[in-house]
Amino acid sequence: MKKSKIGILTSGGDCAGLNSAIKWMVKTTLDIQERGTHYEVIGIRDGFKGLSFTDSTPEVLNENTVLLTEKTVRTWDRYGGTYLGTSRFSPYNGKHDVSNVIINNIGKLGLDALVVIGGDGSMNIANRLSKAGVKIIGIPKTIDNDIMGTDYCLGFETAVETITDIVDKLRTTAGSHRRVFVVETMGRSAGWLALRGGESSGAYIILIPEYDFSLERVNELIIDGKNTGSRYDIVVVAEGAKPLGGKQIMRPRKDMYGHENLGGVGEYLSAEIDKTIGLESRSITLGHIQRGGTPCAYDRRMGRYYGIAAGNLLFRKEFGKMVSYRNGVITSVPLEEAIGGLKLVDIKTRYDTGRYNGTRNMIDN
Ligand code: F6P
Repeated sequence: MKKSKIGILTSGGDCAGLNSAIKWMVKTTLDIQERGTHYEVIGIRDGFKGLSFTDSTPEVLNENTVLLTEKTVRTWDRYGGTYLGTSRFSPYNGKHDVSNVIINNIGKLGLDALVVIGGDGSMNIANRLSKAGVKIIGIPKTIDNDIMGTDYCLGFETAVETITDIVDKLRTTAGSHRRVFVVETMGRSAGWLALRGGESSGAYIILIPEYDFSLERVNELIIDGKNTGSRYDIVVVAEGAKPLGGKQIMRPRKDMYGHENLGGVGEYLSAEIDKTIGLESRSITLGHIQRGGTPCAYDRRMGRYYGIAAGNLLFRKEFGKMVSYRNGVITSVPLEEAIGGLKLVDIKTRYDTGRYNGTRNMIDN
């Protein structure tokens, strides 16, 4: 029986649900033995970095690849992170472009197709490789939930659960001390994580990058809350949010995809609240905790469905596509639809610009 070798890798920031997607892609692919084709799945370690080797001795290949069998992946769906490892490595890196090395190595490994589990940066790379002739299928993941062409990216719900859980814990200490707690979430330039995390945890104020906040309005809301009897307040702020007329706060480093490293707005806001209205305030940056831990039930299921869908696309030889979830259905979109922009929060339909919170208008028509 003819053998077809498929590579799979995880690329970009890790999150929950990746191992589930790998498991179910492997199981589905090994299950498909129709039309005279039998599949074999090779895991590539550490994202695209694992395909950038310049020396193909058995030791190097062994270091960068692993044969994935049903037995290997049997229990993977229960665990967070990625058993294949990941990196923010881009083959298309200006003067150090190694895309040809990667394409040659795909040939050397005998891979007939490659499944890329990644965020917007990785889908961009996948699209460029696809244009260069590599048979690619994408699976969307990122706690930012900002990839275009899909309503859901793996890892998002687990991160929202984590935010909810931590805010629950903060409430008791905030209440004991009559403090304002500013909780900074990740999410880059998309407000989904702060918005959904804030809604789930019942935050009093939610600030997102899609709508610049006025410091005066934040203070006014906090004073209103205090006047109506609240002992403490929870303010959830996205790392990409910024005050009117101000700039996003970032650290002086960029990743290989050109992404800025945001962070610090929570601390800034907390200090401003303390200073301007004299209420004791503390800030906490949730950081990578949002990416860690055990996948919630939803991410295990979505990983499963996306993994199966990737196997289905392989079987149908539909390459250059990303599996996707839209309007309640698992489907797929051309990779081009996933790149070239970010899926951001629509202020008009999802955000209350007066209360700085989620919308109170749920029925669109
Ligand atoms: O894209 C996922 C994400 O967690 C962002 O929300 C965050 O800004 C960034 O990655 C952090 O990147 P790193 O893991 O490189 O610190």
